[in-house]
Amino acid sequence: MPHKVKAVVVKAKDAPVEIETIVIPDAGPGEAVVDILTCGVCHTDLHYKLGGIGDDYPYLLGHEATGVVSQIGEGVSNVAVGDRVVLNWRAVCGECRACAKGQPQYCFNTANATQKMTLEDGTELSPALGIGAFAEKTLVAAGQCTNVDEDVDAAAVGLLGCGIMAGIGAAINTGEVKRGESVAVIGCGGVGIAAIAGAQLAGATTIIAVDIDPAKVELAKKLGATHGVNSKDQDPVEAIRELTGGFGADVVIEAVGRPETYKQAFYARDLAGRVVLVGVPTPEMQLELPLLDVFGRGGSLKSSWYGDCLPSRDFPMLVEQYKLGRLDLDAFVTKRIGLGDIEAAFDKMHDGTVLRSVVEL
Ligand SMILES: NC(=O)c1ccc[n+]([C@@H]2O[C@H](COP(=O)([O-])OP(=O)(O)OC[C@H]3O[C@@H](n4cnc5c(N)ncnc54)[C@H](O)[C@@H]3O)[C@@H](O)[C@H]2O)c1
Ligand SMILES: [Zn+2]
Ligand SMILES: [Zn+2]
Repeated sequence: MPHKVKAVVVKAKDAPVEIETIVIPDAGPGEAVVDILTCGVCHTDLHYKLGGIGDDYPYLLGHEATGVVSQIGEGVSNVAVGDRVVLNWRAVCGECRACAKGQPQYCFNTANATQKMTLEDGTELSPALGIGAFAEKTLVAAGQCTNVDEDVDAAAVGLLGCGIMAGIGAAINTGEVKRGESVAVIGCGGVGIAAIAGAQLAGATTIIAVDIDPAKVELAKKLGATHGVNSKDQDPVEAIRELTGGFGADVVIEAVGRPETYKQAFYARDLAGRVVLVGVPTPEMQLELPLLDVFGRGGSLKSSWYGDCLPSRDFPMLVEQYKLGRLDLDAFVTKRIGLGDIEAAFDKMHDGTVLRSVVEL
């Protein structure tokens, strides 16, 4: 029997989000139906609404979610009905050339549910990042479910499903931050501050938070940064060099997604260090750098998709760090809201006070 539930959809480019009844088929082979408990509001949901990701309207928004598995299809063995799970957008295939090389974190053929969820009139929905969790229930590939403990706050651990994992992973996986290293993070939204938390977890001793918004710099200092730089008033490259003995940081993480901040990251990094781009640029952006500097400064320039995470490895490990009091996931949950408050949450994204609004269902 298909399930009819309430969900948040956007029907056309920049149309307001609407609460609609959607139809979810029974879980087919390899699929799971998940009853959603919480779902964070991420910048990517806004990108979907504004047409920045594609034109496959109507979109079913929401993708940073915790839920409980309520139905599994044939052949599903990684989760059972009743399991508490965080949803991910990296259900690895095990067969592509990345997986075959033993690098499933780069899997080029990740899975989503095969069947479609629809509006009541049969219109097929496009779920955000193959998840669509601003909904009472959603349908995913079973591999998109990662088991987590039940004795932790669903809203907090659900954030590992996207932006917070992207930031932490940019530091611990892509940037491979080591004990005693210096790290600078440019852009201190949810992703950048998560990168700061990741750098702290990895044992960095100098952690420099850079933002044009002084409120974000202050927040970053509360959440693990040892130094703050307001790059509206101060040249961030000079400031980072000054704080690192004149050399630049071992690792600089760009969490804005703009050519000018990428350039800052490139020049604020020590010779032979690492630059990590986790901010997502838009198609028209171009980067210009003297090739001689790219050569002469050595080191590596890496991009980080989803923090190069492997959900089955990284989510439970980070939940454990949270339980041990070493990772303050609670600090990222600024507001708890209802399904009807998502439009207002999008507006709040730009006022500098909210790291994450989380919908509770
Ligand atoms: N790579 C991934 O897998 C992944 C996953 C999720 C999000 N992201 C991307 O990460 C980026 C950050 O996401 P977020 O949720 O933290 O967004 P956010 O809007 O909450 O934060 C962005 C921060 O950058 C600051 N900023 C803007 N312009 C700046 C400048 N010129 N110099 C310094 N700081 C500046 C803002 O003040 C804000 O604090 C976005 O581009 C988002 O799309 C990437
Ligand atoms: Zn693969
Ligand atoms: Zn996201």
